[in-house]
Amino acid sequence: MSGKLFLVILVASAGLTLVHPLFFSVPPQAPETASSETDPHLFTTGAACISCHSNLITPSGEDISIGTDWRASMMANSARDPYWQAAVRRETMDHPEAQDLIEDECAACHMPMSRFEAKTSGQKGQVFSHLPVGENTHRTDDLAADGVSCTVCHQIAAENLGARESFTAGFAIDTETPMEQRAIFGPYEVDEGLSTVMHSASGFRQVESRHIQQSELCATCHTLFTEAIGPTGEIAGELPEQVPYLEWLHSAYREEKSCQSCHMPVVQDTTAISSVLGEERTGVSRHVFQGGNFFMLRMLNRYRTELGVEALPNELEATARQTEYHLQTNTARISIESAERAQDALHVEVRLENLAGHKLPTGYPSRRSWIRFTVRDRNGTPVFESGAIRPTGEIPGNDNDTDPARYEPHYREITQSDQVQIYESVMVDTQDQVTTGLLQAVRYVKDNRLLPRGFDKASASEDIAVHGRAREDADFVGGTDAVRYIVDVSGQQGPFAVRASLWYQPIGYRWAHNLKGYDAPETNRFVEFYDAMSDISGISLATVEVVVPDP
Ligand code: HEC
Ligand code: HEC
Ligand code: HEC
Ligand code: HEC
Ligand code: HEC
Repeated sequence: MSGKLFLVILVASAGLTLVHPLFFSVPPQAPETASSETDPHLFTTGAACISCHSNLITPSGEDISIGTDWRASMMANSARDPYWQAAVRRETMDHPEAQDLIEDECAACHMPMSRFEAKTSGQKGQVFSHLPVGENTHRTDDLAADGVSCTVCHQIAAENLGARESFTAGFAIDTETPMEQRAIFGPYEVDEGLSTVMHSASGFRQVESRHIQQSELCATCHTLFTEAIGPTGEIAGELPEQVPYLEWLHSAYREEKSCQSCHMPVVQDTTAISSVLGEERTGVSRHVFQGGNFFMLRMLNRYRTELGVEALPNELEATARQTEYHLQTNTARISIESAERAQDALHVEVRLENLAGHKLPTGYPSRRSWIRFTVRDRNGTPVFESGAIRPTGEIPGNDNDTDPARYEPHYREITQSDQVQIYESVMVDTQDQVTTGLLQAVRYVKDNRLLPRGFDKASASEDIAVHGRAREDADFVGGTDAVRYIVDVSGQQGPFAVRASLWYQPIGYRWAHNLKGYDAPETNRFVEFYDAMSDISGISLATVEVVVPDP
């Protein structure tokens, strides 16, 4: 053992000078100001890690570089995200008296490193003083810009995972151990020699700990309860704004698949995890964090200079495509269970299946999924359509897109083209008015997002409950929903081509357009970006088509 260790260190020092000039090229940290010298230094940016954890190509040629995968992910861009910045601005305009608290709260997950250090030294996290990304030079500005970075996830400790106090950014990170002695948790046992190599370059040492593989680690930020601020500044209630972990916990996936196993797919080959002296490893997980936000990935790319984006254009485009692929293969299925003409009407039953490990859509409440249903006659002329999408991002027939105070109910049966089956959550404030204000919302009037397999709506807690008419819909159950379309075709001759698709849009029209009323640089900019790209804001996840002959 000691012989092996010796050899590794020798190879390491040879590798340093000859093969890996990058090794010591950890980017210089910005100069400190006097006041920050006493601050705790608990994190470094991903730039300190990328050099060794990139250029990773498997024997079969797949590029699995951790650094470049991560930097092109939404999490690495959580601070640059122009929608997030606009939303924080809106909240501070709605509740000016609570500006400091709001910036602190919104920074907790989107700028977690700068905020956690601030919190540790008894201060509040800030948002706007760190923006725009790339224009400020303090060390904490770099930490803020780096979003959900390597040294956040890899320093989260096991101690409170799964407990309610770990939610809403309640992750536990060591605040005592000084830099140079801090631990990075990972799934593997690492040879001492290799540990020394990483330590001398980054100041961190690997510590094997399996808690990194638990869903409960992701749940610290992916379980978000918001406290609503009432008209007089008082706390008006609590809303489970994003609870994919709790949805997952109530589903069959709890026993089958973790967040990581779907969102960090495992590499089939045996491969190295460090380009410097990595051993051959099995079961390596990709840091792609594939989700659903192909639209924001493209927005970050298109306005990359303004937003201070570091990932390269081809990297972001690759993540956007991978996201679309994930959405179109692993997310949902659609089928037509029955379709027949009975006298003057077509009767068609459409069934959906949710393949995700939580509700579909899940996460941020601007997400929506809906059925686009069309019937064409024998000449290909449209005779019926429900759920089209306009280039503006609007769904014609959706009451909420025309009038912010209204919304589409959940349907069991659709007979008119201005009725649309939209799977979404709709929030209301203390006055029961429909709202997109995160800190105004106190409850949901509609939540008919498709349930994951194994989810029993009757026993679901209030945090993950179904709201609105879907509650009483007998075929709206774990993993599936069915909708019946009855289309008047009197006087028309078949056969009819019937097509049903499930669509998905990460940022619904209403959510973007409600920001129009706020005149501030961040909100104006985001609405402008949205309008410039709204024609690519939606995507079809799955489609089915049948031909219905006349009887
Ligand atoms: C507990 C962690 C947490 C906190 C606190 C938090 N967020 Fe988020 N936020 C998330 C996560 C996780 C997502 C991504 C979910 C998804 O993709 O569906 C997200 C997504 C968003 C998005 C959508 C971004 C996009 O590109 O589509 C906006 C807007 C947003 N948050 C605004 C806010 C605002 C405003 C605050 C403060 C009031 C806030 N967030 C506080 C975790 C948090
Ligand atoms: C959102 C949280 C998160 C972020 C951000 C993150 N990681 Fe990871 N990382 C994980 C998890 C979880 C695993 C273990 C996955 C498993 O085994 O199921 C892991 C595994 C690893 C491994 C072991 C090899 C592998 O891929 O399985 C290395 C090395 C690693 N991460 C390095 C990094 C570096 C370097 C960065 C930044 C460029 C980074 N990670 C960013 C969560 C994260
Ligand atoms: C000088 C190169 C180098 C740098 C810089 C570097 N690492 Fe590593 N890292 C390694 C090596 C070598 C291994 C071990 C590879 C092995 O055992 O196969 C490793 C392993 C890891 C692992 C897996 C540990 C485990 O127990 O499973 C994680 C996680 C990790 N590094 C994260 C980071 C983070 C975060 C940073 C930045 C703060 C970083 N690394 C910087 C070389 C480096
Ligand atoms: C420190 C907080 C934090 C932790 C820990 C965390 N996330 Fe996230 N995650 C975020 C935030 C914030 C966003 C939203 C970024 C945005 O949209 O601006 C996000 C977004 C995502 C997305 C959405 C990507 C997309 O395309 O829409 C996925 C998937 C995701 N995270 C998976 C994970 C997984 C898996 C883990 C655990 C290994 C994890 N996250 C741990 C904060 C976190
Ligand atoms: C069985 C596979 C599977 C499991 C397990 C799973 N997910 Fe997902 N997840 C998906 C799919 C598919 C999507 C894309 C569809 C969607 O957005 O709902 C997704 C999307 C997401 C998104 C992005 C939503 C958006 O708005 O872009 C987040 C965030 C997320 N998952 C978090 C989690 C967390 C946290 C866990 C663990 C508690 C988890 N997922 C477990 C399959 C899974």
